[in-house]
Amino acid sequence: MKILLLNGPNLQLLGSREPDIYGKTTLASIVADVIGLGKKFDLDVEAFQSNSEGDLVTIIGDAPRNGFSGIIINPAAYTHTSVAIRDAIAAAALPAVEVHLSNINSREAFRHESLTAPVCIGVVAGFGAFSYQMALRALANKLGVAEKI
Ligand code: DQA
Repeated sequence: MKILLLNGPNLQLLGSREPDIYGKTTLASIVADVIGLGKKFDLDVEAFQSNSEGDLVTIIGDAPRNGFSGIIINPAAYTHTSVAIRDAIAAAALPAVEVHLSNINSREAFRHESLTAPVCIGVVAGFGAFSYQMALRALANKLGVAEKI
């Protein structure tokens, strides 16, 4: 099975971007770790990052046709603004897990609302880079895929 790992705007800057909030782990390292964990579940993780809302909408829309079984997405700032990404996730009708490095609920009020969370099976937020590992495990569980021993 293939899993789509999507990261939204400014996440290419992880490692140097506001490290007190987002940590010092780079996106490349996060992606490598999720790909590695995916192998333990026989899940083939393909990762994309884009600063463009339209690109993310297109990739999500194409996900079923491209053979993906599930989505892990950190929509970043678009979490709080994008009806288009929310609609794309709903239209794809694949199990999606929303991820945030920070605990969006303990930050500014404008980050408390997620437009995308209601169309996801769940949200993992506040555990830094480890949020992504939890998201993959949650998605694997939802897909009925066990970790190889
Ligand atoms: C974020 C939280 C968002 O509010 C913010 O705009 C981001 C990153 C997170 O991972 O904590 O860019 O999605």
